[in-house]
Amino acid sequence: MLEDIEKVLFHESTILSRLDELAHEITTDYRGKDLTVIAILNGSFVFMADLLRRVPLPLQVECLSVSSYHGTRTTGQVNFRQTTLADFRNRHVLLLDDILDSGHTLHAIGTRLSEGGALSLRTCVLLRKRVEREREVDADYVAFDIPNEFVVGYGLDYNENYRNLPFVGVLNEAAIQRGAKPA
Ligand code: IMP
Ligand code: MG
Repeated sequence: MLEDIEKVLFHESTILSRLDELAHEITTDYRGKDLTVIAILNGSFVFMADLLRRVPLPLQVECLSVSSYHGTRTTGQVNFRQTTLADFRNRHVLLLDDILDSGHTLHAIGTRLSEGGALSLRTCVLLRKRVEREREVDADYVAFDIPNEFVVGYGLDYNENYRNLPFVGVLNEAAIQRGAKPA
């Protein structure tokens, strides 16, 4: 699996020290407020666990499962795997995702959640790609800005593989060409 990585962008220790800062900001902003964190699965499961353990506030966690990617390309169509959402009326909602790329995912979820009666809705992403977005959307909290390269690890996948790598890295061309399975 490691031989499929062209280069490491962020080692685990780098990610965790950045999460210390981000968690501090979030803790300051949401102190005294009723907070529901909604994590978008599968990509944000590692990010969610590491970030939220650094936020010493009472909060509720919900998970939302969506998909829009096939291989290294977005399909532009966001599929929700749940039909009902948790009740977050009169609560502040913080949406967590692994990466902001074309913007389709955060735009679709934001639209869906905005009908739910939340007091506020903000988004937090581990990575934000420097690309022209197909949807007008930005994140309120960003751990790292990255160039337009396909990355895996720390929750992010290529055809559902590599999520368990402890770092964020760029996949090499051979692995991309090979498709589904790591060597
Ligand atoms: P968007 O809808 O194009 O903004 O992309 C958001 C989703 O696409 C993320 O939650 C990821 O699941 C996936 N994605 C986008 N870029 C990458 C990448 O470089 N590596 C792995 N997954 C990605
Ligand atoms: Mg994905």
